[in-house]
Amino acid sequence: MDALAALHLQLEWGADEALGDSPVDRFTIVTAPAQAHSGIAPAELQTVPAAAPHPEPHSVPVQAVQRPAPFAGTASLLPQQGAARLAADIAAEASTLDALRAAMEQFDACPLKATATQLVFSDGTYEAGLMLIGEAPGAEEDRAGKPFVGPSGKFLDRMLASAGMTRERDFVIANLIPWRPPGNRNPTETEILQCLPFLLRHIALARPRMLVCLGGVSAKALTGSTVGIRRLRGKWTDITIPGLDSPLPMLPMLHPAYLLRNPGAKREAWADILTLRKALDG
Ligand code: URA
Repeated sequence: MDALAALHLQLEWGADEALGDSPVDRFTIVTAPAQAHSGIAPAELQTVPAAAPHPEPHSVPVQAVQRPAPFAGTASLLPQQGAARLAADIAAEASTLDALRAAMEQFDACPLKATATQLVFSDGTYEAGLMLIGEAPGAEEDRAGKPFVGPSGKFLDRMLASAGMTRERDFVIANLIPWRPPGNRNPTETEILQCLPFLLRHIALARPRMLVCLGGVSAKALTGSTVGIRRLRGKWTDITIPGLDSPLPMLPMLHPAYLLRNPGAKREAWADILTLRKALDG
């Protein structure tokens, strides 16, 4: 009975999956060196921080969430060393979306890959010229290998369908972080820096006409802004993507998981969808 009670407690605290047979002390662990793309000295590998749940509706209550350090702005986007530098070099070599996906599947230097089931690359069509970017896969996305297939994704699909948009016909959707952070915790700044070169290359190869960032994490990573999503949302902003000749208009919107927890904000989300619709029609 004690063991069962302990298990229930783990679930209440936000554990939603068993990752291995033996316990892992994530306060002290230093991740294993890269294999497929080696060349990173162990000193450059990060210490994995304590798990803090990521805001999906099924995770622990908001007051229990530990936030990572605030994102430090554009200067820190430049990959200068370690896994982020390696990611930038590998991403730059990919000349097609398929090559990029294959390169990411081989990339072992981001510790998130070790705990995720698989890479979550994208879903939808690249043909329509609209690309949506979320934060990171959750448990269902990790299992399916597709972004936004869980509760927040289904909600997003319903909202966009109300404005006449479907992923099959009107947009492609991807994430800033392509591997699920364990326990749905927020990605750390280091993980963001390691994954950003892949997203930038993904955008450059997809060549969309417009971008939508779902939530503050992707919007801040792509703009370097430290302003909160409640203030960023609904206003088009031009962003520069390496490899693209002209700046790309990007519309920040509230994350669908946030909307599920804060139904009062759906009014703003709907206004943003109409802003998007107008730009697509215009
Ligand atoms: N939340 C995200 O940001 N991305 C997903 O793929 C799922 C949930």
